[in-house]
Amino acid sequence: MTNNSAKPFYITTPIFYPNGKLHIGHAYAATMCDVLARMARAVGRPTYFLTGADENSLKVQKTADAEGKEVIAFLDEQAAISQQLFGQLHISYDQYIRTTDPDAHHQGVIEMWNRLDKAGDIYEGSYEGYYCVGCEGFKTEKDLINGCCPIHETPAEFLKEKNYFFKLSKYRDQIKKAIETDELLVSPEARKNEILAVLEEGLDDISFSRPYHGQKNAILVPNDPTQAIYVWGDALVNYISALGFGTAADEGFKLFWPEAIHLIGKDILRFHAAIWPGMLLSAGLSLPKKILVTGLMQSGGKKMSKSLGNVIDPQEMIDLVGPEGLRFFFAHDVPLLDDGEITRDLILASYNAHLANGIGNLTNRLLKMMISYDVQFDSMHGANTPYWNEVHGKVAEYLEHNDVTGYANYIWQGFASIDVWIQETEPFKLFKTDPEKAKGIVSEMLVKFFTLTNFAQPILPHGVPEIIKHIEVRQMPEKALYLKV
Ligand code: MSP
Repeated sequence: MTNNSAKPFYITTPIFYPNGKLHIGHAYAATMCDVLARMARAVGRPTYFLTGADENSLKVQKTADAEGKEVIAFLDEQAAISQQLFGQLHISYDQYIRTTDPDAHHQGVIEMWNRLDKAGDIYEGSYEGYYCVGCEGFKTEKDLINGCCPIHETPAEFLKEKNYFFKLSKYRDQIKKAIETDELLVSPEARKNEILAVLEEGLDDISFSRPYHGQKNAILVPNDPTQAIYVWGDALVNYISALGFGTAADEGFKLFWPEAIHLIGKDILRFHAAIWPGMLLSAGLSLPKKILVTGLMQSGGKKMSKSLGNVIDPQEMIDLVGPEGLRFFFAHDVPLLDDGEITRDLILASYNAHLANGIGNLTNRLLKMMISYDVQFDSMHGANTPYWNEVHGKVAEYLEHNDVTGYANYIWQGFASIDVWIQETEPFKLFKTDPEKAKGIVSEMLVKFFTLTNFAQPILPHGVPEIIKHIEVRQMPEKALYLKV
């Protein structure tokens, strides 16, 4: 056990743009945060897991318009669809924040704006330049290729408008120092170096508002109803508004801030590792502890795109190997901080090797021996052994390093070692000549299997309680939990 067991654990996904169906990258981010949150709960840390939807954006407005829907009705529909997918994937969020929600979010944003203003960091100006609606970001000419955003490959709009600006440049040195010293840990190292190079070049002040056009999904600038707060200036605040920042009910904020770990994709690094720390510093608040930057998932070695026909739909994968098959693949086979490779065949192979075989097959073999040789097993005792403490300590350590793949491999290597142990000792043969000895071996195997299974629950939140129940009631499952596909 580590001495960190009571340290609060706060993990966040990016809030997703609800302008289309959630794709596999979104399912991946939510699942990885979910596994980390469940690991934290499993080792006894007070945990808060936040996810949600980034609703106050122009691109959402445009999609709703194109579908001929009123924007809030469209957003309600989208939120229900996303929550349904998250439910299927067993995503155990404590809160699903929606940035159009005045109670959950707007007060925090207003408080943030007022603090920046009070610090003298908001000033009026006019913006002349480009804007990519895909990124919801202001662009310079050198960011564009033939007038198009390189990420979205769509033409950027040219804008000339009144904006309020945020004095981000003022905080460059402080942000740089915090990242250099790991006070704000940006991981992996390559991303830390990338953001440090950006900071080295200098930070410009940024536009922090846009003219307001009467849309329902916007938060107005305090004391100027002609301007709406820039969507990223509003969205980033979700990480603290969700905890009650800016309201009287801010116990969550007091408990969990600044223990935050923000898991993000590499395409939104600058927003999180430059603009967000700048806002927090200006507001007199502490910086989050960590920014974990995932790669982008690819399929067949290429970025997923509709035109290449290599887009993987999470629902199709769930239909193929079940929600836990997909969760397992993400946790075990896609390194968190790298570009991961995902194909239908890889998912299928991993499922069959580790869930149908692996834990699935092992459950059957052990249960069968336990029942037919009448081996007694007490789960109270099983949760109170030196081995249990050892695995508990290892899980806490993997959690400390946010090493989901390492953790998944550790647990599944444990299962594999029980398979080897069965092969080597052959209790089914031994039982015929020395039943007491065979029973003793199976009993030891059960202690190990029970412990590993318990700590596999962050990955298999549905299957593990089922397996444990069958051990406790000493019954074979009617049909295998993880059927071979
Ligand atoms: N709304 C913003 C985030 C605001 S956070 C205050 C946003 N939303 S998004 O829906 O476009 O993207 C959400 C996350 O999904 C990003 O972290 C992005 O990197 C991630 N992914 C998008 N495509 C992905 C893959 N192909 N693979 C892995 N993650 C992917 O940005």
